[in-house]
Amino acid sequence: MAYPNSTSKLIQNHRSIRRFKEDPVPDDMLGDIIRSAQWAPSSHNVQAYTIISVTDPAVRSQLEKWCGPQRYVGSAPVFLVFTADFHKHEMISEEQGTAFEMEESENVLVGAVDAALAAQNAFIAAKSYGLGGVMIGGIRNRPYDVARLLKLPKWTFPVMGMCLGFPEHLPGQKPRFPLSGVRHENQYDEQRIENALSVFDASTREYYQNRPSNPKSQSWTEQMASYLSAPRRPQMTDFLKDQGFTLK
Ligand SMILES: Cc1cc2nc3c(=O)[nH]c(=O)nc-3n(C[C@H](O)[C@H](O)[C@H](O)COP(=O)(O)O)c2cc1C
Repeated sequence: MAYPNSTSKLIQNHRSIRRFKEDPVPDDMLGDIIRSAQWAPSSHNVQAYTIISVTDPAVRSQLEKWCGPQRYVGSAPVFLVFTADFHKHEMISEEQGTAFEMEESENVLVGAVDAALAAQNAFIAAKSYGLGGVMIGGIRNRPYDVARLLKLPKWTFPVMGMCLGFPEHLPGQKPRFPLSGVRHENQYDEQRIENALSVFDASTREYYQNRPSNPKSQSWTEQMASYLSAPRRPQMTDFLKDQGFTLK
């Protein structure tokens, strides 16, 4: 057997795409991409997600602002919102007269994981059609406004957005943490992490220095230390609680 094969090559050829041709994505292609999303495994088969395709230009332009602003949220041929969704489960429990037990942080994990697995399936299916895209965590910047705009009911929350379209060009690939630091055996091995960090810092710095747009000299450890030095979306805690997730 030869490694990589065509599917793993497609996966390992990943880079986020933020510039798109104007060509529309055929509706049947989008349908197939969303069908692929649905074939992701699901925790206890809860299928706790809904995928909203945002086509209304006014809604797109509002989301573009709230997500950053991020230009491609407004202009990408396709913008999907992957939403964790227990609303349908609440309807079922009500109909069947059973308790609806959501008082656990576990449910947030289940919903977010289900939505993320569906999103990655969609992303790979899209790539197989020559599309590219980028996931958008910015959809959680203003969760109350997004929920109002998209009419998200209680027991749901936006996990990520996704821009899709035909790539205008292929940017270079951002390096990944060395395999030796990701693949451990039997137990967590701190030494593997330490060894990998210095290798990864060098490759990340080189990537940033040499990329054609927005070059900079920054290592990954510098980038992460800065990223993690301040709260990012503290609004999510209250929002999740207001959506019915008590986070006990
Ligand atoms: C859940 C999630 C949310 C993301 N949110 C954004 C975003 O809001 N804007 C953006 O430009 N990129 C976003 N990204 C893309 C990451 O920045 C990107 O995947 C990472 O820098 C690695 O680069 P690569 O995907 O090109 O390899 C997101 C990625 C993920 C997985």
